[in-house]
Amino acid sequence: MITEVQILPSLYQLQRLGIINEISISALNGAPLKKLAESQTLKDAFPGQNFKPYPDFTQEDPDKAFPDLYKTALENAGENNIALIALPDQLHYGAIMEALERNMHIVSVKPLVLNYQQSLEIEELAEKKGLFVGVEYHKRADDRSLIARRRYKKGLFGEFKMGQAHLVEPWYYRDSNFQNWCTVENSDMFSYIACHYIDLVQFITGLLPVEVSVYGIIDDYPNGNKGYLYTDGRVIWENGAVLNVQNGLGYPNIGPGGNSQGMMLFFKGENDGGFLFHHDQYRGVKHSLLQKGNEPGDTQYIETSPDYFQLLEYGGEGLEPVGYGYRSIRKLIEATISVASSTNSEQKTALIKKINVSGILATPANSFFNELVMEAGRMSITNEGKPVTISYKDNPFVSFK
Ligand SMILES: NC(=O)c1ccc[n+]([C@@H]2O[C@H](COP(=O)([O-])OP(=O)(O)OC[C@H]3O[C@@H](n4cnc5c(N)ncnc54)[C@H](O)[C@@H]3O)[C@@H](O)[C@H]2O)c1
Repeated sequence: MITEVQILPSLYQLQRLGIINEISISALNGAPLKKLAESQTLKDAFPGQNFKPYPDFTQEDPDKAFPDLYKTALENAGENNIALIALPDQLHYGAIMEALERNMHIVSVKPLVLNYQQSLEIEELAEKKGLFVGVEYHKRADDRSLIARRRYKKGLFGEFKMGQAHLVEPWYYRDSNFQNWCTVENSDMFSYIACHYIDLVQFITGLLPVEVSVYGIIDDYPNGNKGYLYTDGRVIWENGAVLNVQNGLGYPNIGPGGNSQGMMLFFKGENDGGFLFHHDQYRGVKHSLLQKGNEPGDTQYIETSPDYFQLLEYGGEGLEPVGYGYRSIRKLIEATISVASSTNSEQKTALIKKINVSGILATPANSFFNELVMEAGRMSITNEGKPVTISYKDNPFVSFK
């Protein structure tokens, strides 16, 4: 899904610009690759551009599974190239380690991995080998986040005290491949999407999360699998501030937006309160069309987000991607290329350190708190919402309060 709507069109644009060369894509079976290759939207936007599929869906039964073929794709890509990981959450770790072993740089969709030890292992191996690892938290590349970060750093808001965030994806996601992997044993709505706003609060304020509790509601997917389809999380921060985050697969299919999402934060100043309100779904656009489209969730009246990801005519061949989804991929790929093209290991290490310290692009070194939150969240949700604390002393760890 994310490969089709954001990653591949961004990579095609970078290929068009000559920033990257060949693209290969591996999936569990040929079916999603066939869908990508035959997508009319992608053909219209990037005429003549394509990717090498693993498995080759023109030769193999599109439903036959090839769980290890991605290793061949990595092998064939070769060292100093980029592995962009967009697998189900619980498979990130194994694939990232396979790619690092082959001396490849990594860009991974969030969450990097589901626990801190794995994130540390990735960080250490990458550091030893002079390889870059970036995590794609595209809300960081939404201009409004960067504006808020600058204002917070200047002290214009005051100190973060209390906030609410929510991201509820559409109901029809239940019909997708989600029902096969985002099940109670593997993940939950908090792990899947709460990380965006928790990451953003840290990105804006610089504060670290120190306690997590998550109440989850188990519900049935259409195929009978069970998932935590509604979650309510409470995150306490190192200064005692609190963020409440609600997530789910429940935004109405007939709703005009792609989902429902946003954040409201309250801050303490000397003599007055600071306030931040981001409506992240409704961005001021209302279009009513004569007919609705044929994709799940398409509606006749739509509140399109012009800010996340759009393919637009800019006078060149095909269409150009715009928005923070594209910017985020582009910045990560450019950072990776700058590390990959550094001539010696001191330069690579210095560059990676600079990226870690600037904190704009998420890396294991500067965003490992997200893995601790994931770990704490899973511990809490599978134990009826018991609070779990995060310790950052020496070797960070999580434990029941
Ligand atoms: N906002 C965001 O940043 C965002 C949004 C959506 C998804 N994501 C993340 O992206 C990842 C994928 O989510 P999605 O919604 O695109 O899921 P998806 O189910 O649509 O895609 C997962 C893909 O992984 C492939 N796969 C599974 N096992 C494999 C294997 N052994 N070898 C090769 N390929 C294999 C499947 O074939 C499938 O095409 C998840 O980690 C999710 O959390 C991030």
